[in-house]
Amino acid sequence: MKIVNKSLITACMLSLAATMPMKAQTAIYLDKNQPIEARVQDALSRMTLEEKVAMTHAQSKFSSPGVPRLGIPELWWSDGPHGVRAEIEWNSWAYANWTNDSITAFPALTCLAATWNPELSYEYGNALGEEARYRKKDVILGPGVNMYRHPLNGRNFEYMGEDPYLASVMVVPYVKGVQQNGVATSTKHFALNDQEKWRGHINVELSDRALHEIYLPPFKAAIVDGEGWTIMGAYNKIRGQHACHNEFLLNEILKGDWGFDGVVVTDWGGAHDTKEAALYGLDVEMGSYTNGLTSESKFGYNNYYLADNYLAMLKSGEVPMITVDDKASRILRLIFRTSMNTDRPWGSQATEEHAAVARQIGEEGIVLLKNEPVSKKVAKLLPIDAAKYNKILVVGENATRSLTKGGGSSELKVKEEVSPLEGLQAKYGDKVVYAKGYKSGRSMYGNVEVISPSIEDSLRAEAVAMAKSADLIVYVGGLNKNHEQDCEAGDRTTYGLPFAQDQLINELLTVNPNMIMALLSGNAVEMPWIKKVPAVLQGWYLGSQAGNALANVLSGETNPSGKLPFSFPVKLADNGAIHYGEQSYPGDSINQTYLEDILVGYRWHDTKKIPAQYSFGHGLSYTTFAFSKPEISSKKMTKDGSVVVSVNVKNTGDRAGKEVVQLYIKDKKSSLPRPEKELKGFKKVLLEPGQEQEVSFTITPKELSFYNDQDGKWIAEPGEFEAFIGNSSTNIKEQVSFQLVQ
Ligand code: BGC
Repeated sequence: MKIVNKSLITACMLSLAATMPMKAQTAIYLDKNQPIEARVQDALSRMTLEEKVAMTHAQSKFSSPGVPRLGIPELWWSDGPHGVRAEIEWNSWAYANWTNDSITAFPALTCLAATWNPELSYEYGNALGEEARYRKKDVILGPGVNMYRHPLNGRNFEYMGEDPYLASVMVVPYVKGVQQNGVATSTKHFALNDQEKWRGHINVELSDRALHEIYLPPFKAAIVDGEGWTIMGAYNKIRGQHACHNEFLLNEILKGDWGFDGVVVTDWGGAHDTKEAALYGLDVEMGSYTNGLTSESKFGYNNYYLADNYLAMLKSGEVPMITVDDKASRILRLIFRTSMNTDRPWGSQATEEHAAVARQIGEEGIVLLKNEPVSKKVAKLLPIDAAKYNKILVVGENATRSLTKGGGSSELKVKEEVSPLEGLQAKYGDKVVYAKGYKSGRSMYGNVEVISPSIEDSLRAEAVAMAKSADLIVYVGGLNKNHEQDCEAGDRTTYGLPFAQDQLINELLTVNPNMIMALLSGNAVEMPWIKKVPAVLQGWYLGSQAGNALANVLSGETNPSGKLPFSFPVKLADNGAIHYGEQSYPGDSINQTYLEDILVGYRWHDTKKIPAQYSFGHGLSYTTFAFSKPEISSKKMTKDGSVVVSVNVKNTGDRAGKEVVQLYIKDKKSSLPRPEKELKGFKKVLLEPGQEQEVSFTITPKELSFYNDQDGKWIAEPGEFEAFIGNSSTNIKEQVSFQLVQ
C-alpha cells in the first residue's frame, strides 16, 4: 500500500481552495431564515431613492414594481372579492382575453355574511387564496366590509351587512384563509364609502361614536385580529380629506392606534395630491389618471402623484425622506410576505373542491324569508314535493342570466356557472318549463339599455299564459349587476324591483297563487306583493354553483339556515339614513352627514319602533327549534369579570337543520343614548331531529361598552343589562338580566 503524506494533501487542498472563488455570503434580505424586519432593513439600505419611489406607484393597471436590480419581485394585485378577476391589459381597463384565467366564482359577500358561519368564511378565504396563488396574484382586493347603511348603495352586495359585530366575526377567517396561501388581502374600502353616488368626492361627516361603534370595527378586526397585510383606501372624503391620504384615518387610527405594519393602497385612482399622499398614510398609488373607472390616460406612470413629483419633493426637502423609507419598508414587508415568500403553496384553480365550497356557502347563505300555507287546503310549498306536480313553471330573467358578469370590478370570468334553471332542470327534469317574463339588457357604468314596452308586454303575457296551466311557479327575479342595480359606480334609484317585475308578479299571482319566489340580489327590495306570495327566499348572488345551491334548498336536500345580515325595511323611508333626507343621503353633492348616527339598520328599527318587513337575523328553516330558559353563571359581573349565559336548543321537527342562536345585549340605562339592543354573540349549531345542544356565551365588559366620544374611550357603565337570546333581532325567545358592578 502506498503511503500518502497527509500534510501534503492538506497543503494541496488549501492552495486549491485559495484559487477557487469564495462562495458569496447570502445577503440578509435574500435569506428567508432571517427575521422579516432584518430583511426589510437590509433591502432598504441597498436601494436608491429612485428605486424606493418606484415601488410606491403602479407600473401597469394591476401591478407595482419590485427592485429588478436586487432581484426583488414585483407585486400583482387582483380583484376581488368573490373570485380572482380575469386578466386585464397592461395599460387599459380592457380584458386581456387570456384563455387560462377562468375561475370559480364564490357567492357574494352578503351571502357569506348570511351564513353566520365563520368556518365557511375560512373555507371561502382559503379556496380564493388558492385560486389567487395559482393565478400568480399576490394581493386580492377584498374583502369588503363597508357597513350596509341603506338599501340604495350599489355595492352592498360586496359587503357583509349592517352589523359591525357580525361583519367583524365573519371577516377575520376570510383574511386568514386567503393569507395562509401567501396572498395578501386588501380589506376595502377604508372607510365610509357607503354610497356609489358621488363616491369620488362626497365628504362624509359623522360623529366619533358612529365611526367607532359602527363603521370601523370590521376594518379593525380584519387588520388587528385577521392581521391583514394591506388595506384599500376609499374614494370619498372624510372630514374634509380624501380617504386615500387621510391623516386622521390612516396615520392616527390605522397606523397609530391599530399598529398596522402593512400597506395602504389607493382605490384605483383614489390619490389626488402628492404632498398629501406623501404625508398622510398612503403607501401605494394605483390607477390614477384614469378617473378610476372608464377613461384611459395619456399620462405615463411617472406622472402619478407618488412618482416624479414625489421624487422631486423628496429631493428638494419639501417632504421628508422618512416618508419614502416608511412606504418602501411596508412594501418590502408585503413582498417578503407574498411574492418573495418561497414557502407559499402553489395553489389550484377551478377545482371540484372549490366548487363544493362555493355550493355549500350558497346553500347556507340562502335565507328562507317566508313559508306559509297557500290556503287552508294547500299546504306550504317548500320544500318542493315534486311528486305533487306535473308542470313547474320557472319565471324570471335571473333564472338564466349570468350574474357573475357585471357589477363593476367584482365581475368574474367563470369556468362554470350553473344557472337556477339548470339547477331545477337537473332536479325535476321535464316537469320544468321556462318563461323569461321580463328583460333587462346589459349595462355597466352608465349605458342603460332601454327595453321597449312592447317587448315587456309580450314577455309578461307569455309568462302569465303559461302560469295558468302550471302547478307551481318558481319565480327567480330580483336585481342584477346592471348600472343602478347591484353595481359599482352608481346607486339604485328606486327601492322597488326593476324591469316592471311588480306588475309581472301581480299578474302571475292573479292566475296562479302557488308561487315560490327566489330573489337574487345583494340588497333589500320593496315587496308590495308580499302578503300574496306564500314562499319567499333571499338568494343573493351565488356564483358558479348558483343553480345547484338554490335547487338543493328548494328541494329540501339542504335545509335552509341563512339569516339576514341586514334589515329589509317595508318602505325606503323606514331606513334611518334615508329618513333624514338629502343631507343624510345622498348629500348635496359636496357634503353629507350621517344623521342617523349610531342607529344603523336594526338599531334604527328597534329603537324607533319602526318594524322592518324582514328583520336583521331573520331566516326560517324546514324544521323547528325550541330554546330552553337561559341560565346565567352569576347575576353580577365585576369590571374585570365575566358572566356566562347558556341556553339549550332542541330540534323539535323531523329533519336535520342548523339554527343560529343570537345574543343581543341591552343597556338599560346609560349616560349617552344607546340602541335598543346590539348583537354581541352568535353560534350556528347543527341538530338532528330530537337532538339538543347547549350553547353558551361569555359576556365581558367589552360586550357592554360603548364609545364615549367625550374622552375618546370605550366604557362599560355599571348598571343593569339584559341578555336577549333569539333567532332573529325581533324573535327574542328568552332573556335574562344581570348587573355590572363597580
Ligand atoms: C373599485 C375597487 C377595485 C378597483 C380595482 C375600483 O373601481 O372601487 O373596489 O378593487 O377598482 O379594480
